[in-house]
Amino acid sequence: MILSAGNHPRWVPGSNLERKLIMEARAKLFGYSIHQMLIVLPLGLLVGAIIFDIVSFIAGGMQWRTVSYWLIALGVLSGLLAAVFGFADWTKIPAGTRAKRVGSAHGLGNVVVVGLFIISWFLRGGPTHQPTALAYILSFVGGGIALVTGWLGGELVDRLGVGVDDGASLDAPSSLSGRPARGAAYGD
Ligand code: HEM
Repeated sequence: MILSAGNHPRWVPGSNLERKLIMEARAKLFGYSIHQMLIVLPLGLLVGAIIFDIVSFIAGGMQWRTVSYWLIALGVLSGLLAAVFGFADWTKIPAGTRAKRVGSAHGLGNVVVVGLFIISWFLRGGPTHQPTALAYILSFVGGGIALVTGWLGGELVDRLGVGVDDGASLDAPSSLSGRPARGAAYGD
């Protein structure tokens, strides 16, 4: 039984009549979730900042902390942008589902991650300054939390089907075709 078609949650009967929820992302560009497109930026940039902090410990030299400083700035800005689209997708997850709870933990956790990097950035005081120990600690703690929130994001998509097209299958037509993905799986 389809409760609502297109870009909305719908119930799909399972073999044992178990209810299954399939939910496409709300905010899409060229057929794909904008949140899923954007999150590579904060994850890559903020992890890069941690890597260059470690390089600066090992190799010394002002240039590495300058790299970290600007990576954090870009990581925070792209993280805030990604969070807007993640929030838009989260608002449409039906209340009372595990996906809603996991999405809440994922979203709040990521807001904390971005907040920790923002504080770390301000504590650094400038691109050439020697960061305080607290500035380093906040970045590393943020990176540690991001491991958990990133896993929760994967759980949302791979396990709970949030942001996955209705009826996604190996022979689904192109996202740009204007045809629903479910046609190939359901023969219509
Ligand atoms: C810096 C901030 C954020 C990062 C780095 C991030 C990261 C991720 C990752 C890695 C995934 C899994 C993507 C995949 O496996 O393809 C994901 C999915 C998701 N995230 Fe976030 N996230 C952030 C903020 C948020 C916020 C604030 C919310 C709102 C509560 C949110 C809601 C979601 C939802 C609903 C999904 C499921 C997929 C989709 O909607 O397209 N995220 N996120």
